[in-house]
Amino acid sequence: MKYFILFGPPGAGKGTQATAMVENYNLRHISTGELLRKEIADGTELGLKAKSLIDAGALVPDEIVEGMIESVFRKTTGVNGFLLDGFPRTVAQADALDAMLAKNSEEVTAVVSIMIPDEMIRERIKHRASIEGRADDANDDTISNRIRTYHDKTEPLVEYYKGKGKYHEIDGTGTIEDVRKAIAALMDRF
Ligand code: AP5
Ligand code: MG
Repeated sequence: MKYFILFGPPGAGKGTQATAMVENYNLRHISTGELLRKEIADGTELGLKAKSLIDAGALVPDEIVEGMIESVFRKTTGVNGFLLDGFPRTVAQADALDAMLAKNSEEVTAVVSIMIPDEMIRERIKHRASIEGRADDANDDTISNRIRTYHDKTEPLVEYYKGKGKYHEIDGTGTIEDVRKAIAALMDRF
């Protein structure tokens, strides 16, 4: 199995680009954000726990998302691999992922990182707020906190995966089509 990590700050275009990637390479898309939003919509206990943290722009506890990921890994068959969108988001989650994969002598294939500057994060999220109505897109304080959380907790993963020789960065500031082409050129190497 191949394990691709789709990395990038909030609003970078991970969800947008994931659709073509999973089709072209027969991957299972796992967005921890989408899974958590579904738990909230279904009113589950996990969703209740996650809601206040997500609405504040904070991360949910590592164990919760690690459990979600492992359960999808176990249940999925018939694909060439996985596209992890929004996971891992902390060094602890990255270590947990390595440990999960090592059980079957597997490892992360590559990190595809879509990079945009902070100001563009705000523009993209504001634009999406008018279309999708996500609770964590609605409020400036929440957006600021998501950006801060990204820099504090998630950005250290850039060095983590560079150290393992797995980090590949794409310029996310072009059009959706520009970014799609750059990702396809990269993915064709794996
Ligand atoms: P999550 O759902 O993962 O949100 P995120 O990381 O903040 O990323 P987004 O979904 O906001 O952005 P995206 O990169 O997918 O951008 P999109 O393609 O939509 O997480 C939400 C929350 O859940 C977290 O804050 C946390 O609380 C919790 N959570 C999730 N995973 C967790 C984990 N592992 N651990 C702990 N907590 C976790 O694009 C954005 C907009 O821009 C769209 O409108 C799109 O149309 C537009 N756009 C995209 N590309 C372009 C382009 N090239 N040019 C112009 N517009 C573009
Ligand atoms: Mg997304």
